[in-house]
Amino acid sequence: MIIKKSFKKHLVGLDIGTTKICVAVGELSKNGITITSINTTSSLGLKKGTVINIESTVNSIRKVINDAERFTGKPIHEVLIAVTGSHIKGEQVSTSTYIKNDEVTSQDIETAISSINFNIPPEREILQIVPTDFILDGASVISDPVGLSGFKLDINSIIITGSSIAIQNLIECCRRAGLEIKDITLQSIASAEATLYPEEKKNGIAIIDLGGGTTDIAVYKDDYLKYVSVIALGGNHFTNDLSIGLGLTFQEAERIKIKNSNILLSEESKNSEIDIYEISGQIKKIPQKYLLEILLPRAEEFISLIKKELTKINKLGINIGSIVMTGGASLLHSLDKLAQATLSLPVRIGYPKASVLRKNSSRPFLTDLLPEHNNPIYSTSIGLLLYGSDQYIYAEEDSSATITIKMSSLFKKTFSKIGGFNV
Ligand SMILES: Nc1ncnc2c1ncn2[C@@H]1O[C@H](COP(=O)(O)OP(=O)(O)OP(=O)(O)O)[C@@H](O)[C@H]1O
Ligand SMILES: [Mg+2]
Repeated sequence: MIIKKSFKKHLVGLDIGTTKICVAVGELSKNGITITSINTTSSLGLKKGTVINIESTVNSIRKVINDAERFTGKPIHEVLIAVTGSHIKGEQVSTSTYIKNDEVTSQDIETAISSINFNIPPEREILQIVPTDFILDGASVISDPVGLSGFKLDINSIIITGSSIAIQNLIECCRRAGLEIKDITLQSIASAEATLYPEEKKNGIAIIDLGGGTTDIAVYKDDYLKYVSVIALGGNHFTNDLSIGLGLTFQEAERIKIKNSNILLSEESKNSEIDIYEISGQIKKIPQKYLLEILLPRAEEFISLIKKELTKINKLGINIGSIVMTGGASLLHSLDKLAQATLSLPVRIGYPKASVLRKNSSRPFLTDLLPEHNNPIYSTSIGLLLYGSDQYIYAEEDSSATITIKMSSLFKKTFSKIGGFNV
């Protein structure tokens, strides 16, 4: 990583999830990023990744930011945030540019991408435009095109858009909590930063962030992002199924799910019994196989939705070599094995530790990680620190690796438009 000796930057990643709001604070220096704190609180104002109650969301954000400020002793004004929700869409677009001074510069790429003429309905916003392929004078460029000599550069990109109201509400929640948003990206892109190895991004990989309310997918190949999508299914659906199927409160169903999350493939556990607290408060014994009968169809539905996504990815000509599942619901025991058996691809659980282990690579890394933070529920918040540091590091070089164009009007427009709340 190329970074000046004296450089130090305070970074804050705020993950506003369906089940929890999490803030990771880190310090970026030439040695990498050192995490100073990770705090979480329950998320009370979101459904399926989208804000449905501004006041509850603002209160939860304020609480977790206050906790982080107390813990680190430093005030927090600026945050990097990640967005999700089934309103998010990624669409492929192409653009071309003639190289100004014979050699490609990042400025050539930025200018070309900024000039993309993309018709977007008024109810949607562009979140990010990310280049995915570079073709220089008709030949595909596998590595970074910056510095190469050529005449004409064709660029394929993904335009990531989302519902204006959903994005405005999220931004408004941060604003009311007294925070300035420094940068915004997708949850899947942030989680990829924390959990993927550079070789995986090169060889082709789908990261699947299975959270409480949504499943966020991002695909990388030849080092570049190639595809994004969001499915409105998460761990809460498993919990709801148990709650309805067994007549339990959501909290009790959640407890039972996490305590017995070894159920999917474990033969011996199927014959045992477990205690459950019914809504009336009575304890009842039920065969553990009842859990299996409820959870397995949902797991199979999840995997069949992933299979459909993989078919779409394949049709786009993107071949992947493996899958990483992250997010809290990836911890549902054996879901990874079930997915691997059905999808015929290697599947591993993505832990943020991967970003410590790539110290010798050119990607941003963490200097260390406490064992209690090495949990897939922190992939997005930790990934936001790495994503944010990426922008600073590459800002020092001329490289295309992290060029993502954001509509500069996004923040101005959304701040001035706030007033209605209408998800
Ligand atoms: N050990 C575990 N076994 C099974 N499920 C788990 C476990 N730990 C957490 N979960 C589930 O993970 C989900 C929460 O994951 P996560 O914290 O990644 O979601 P989120 O970021 O709040 O939501 P989203 O990303 O959908 O907005 C919950 O449904 C929870 O039940
Ligand atoms: Mg999440």
